[in-house]
Amino acid sequence: MLVLGIESSCDETGVGLYSDEQGLIAHTLYSQVDLHLRYGGVVPELASRDHIQKLQPLVHALLDKTATKLTALDGIAYTAGPGLSGALLVGAAFARSLAYSLNKPCVGVHHLEAHLLSPMLEENAPSLPFLALLVSGGHTMLIKVAALGQYEILGESLDDAAGEAFDKTAKIMGLPYPGGPILAKLADEGKSGMFHLPRPMVNRANLDFSFSGLKTAVAELVQKHRPLTETVKANIACEFQEAVMESLFVKTKRALQQTGLKTLVVAGGVSANKRLRHLLQQELMKLGGQVYFPRHEFCTDNGAMIALTGCLRLVAGQYDDLGFGVRARWPLDMLKKI
Ligand code: KG4
Ligand code: ZN
Repeated sequence: MLVLGIESSCDETGVGLYSDEQGLIAHTLYSQVDLHLRYGGVVPELASRDHIQKLQPLVHALLDKTATKLTALDGIAYTAGPGLSGALLVGAAFARSLAYSLNKPCVGVHHLEAHLLSPMLEENAPSLPFLALLVSGGHTMLIKVAALGQYEILGESLDDAAGEAFDKTAKIMGLPYPGGPILAKLADEGKSGMFHLPRPMVNRANLDFSFSGLKTAVAELVQKHRPLTETVKANIACEFQEAVMESLFVKTKRALQQTGLKTLVVAGGVSANKRLRHLLQQELMKLGGQVYFPRHEFCTDNGAMIALTGCLRLVAGQYDDLGFGVRARWPLDMLKKI
């Protein structure tokens, strides 16, 4: 089954082609970074309008690049939520209309399910059951995955998501949008131990996270050391990264102990973080287990993960009726088992 996947939940227009026999065939991404740069963050209305302009040319380019005829598609998948409603509606309307015109099945995909299945785009894919650490711009969750579509949330952030904390802290430090990856890069240049920030929630027995206090603590440091030299900036960034990653690490380690699982999947934008990868790789090696990360281009939003997830559901005979809708909020533990 050959499936076209469409991602438009935020500031990236992504399209991908996935076949259950051949795996990922190709994918293309258009990032709106330049569009939102001068506003210092994503402007939802501009995001929607840009998705409208970019989606059709991207699909055409993908089909041309892979010499695929529209009629060769067996199904179409799109991100139905969670995300920005207007942006989601662009992808949903496009996908549903195209599927209708081709008389092919169409399925709305949960964006977070797609993130956590993204390591399955690789040849060396994780096998079930596994523990997933999902760390994106909007969510931080530890999830027990017993079967595809069956997601038990063991813990999550009580306030800001890890990626959101990176983005907000970057802004406080005067770094340009998109702050998260820029802050992470700066952190790698800094020296650890020059400042001290708290490790939120690590001494609590549960598997929840909290990151909003960290940005306030950084704001105080920034205030105290104004004007910031490049060295001080890098050292603060380094300590901030250390605090976030240690907190993710401690809770993930605890979840592995509690569940007895030895397979860990880390996905979402923050899974690109080098320090997090290093900490978890070391730990899983110690445990005799294995950790799976998506390759860098699949850590952040993309159409390939939507095509893969849609394909899994369509192969299982799960597709939507002719209506379509999007969900800005959509609990992950309410999905149907695949
Ligand atoms: O998964 P994603 O592309 O979008 C959502 O679905 O939210 O994640 C984007 C998030 C942003 O908050 C960004 O700051 C963060 O991932 N991010 C990083 C890194 N690269 C992206 N955070 C820490 N370290 C990185 N290297
Ligand atoms: Zn995402």
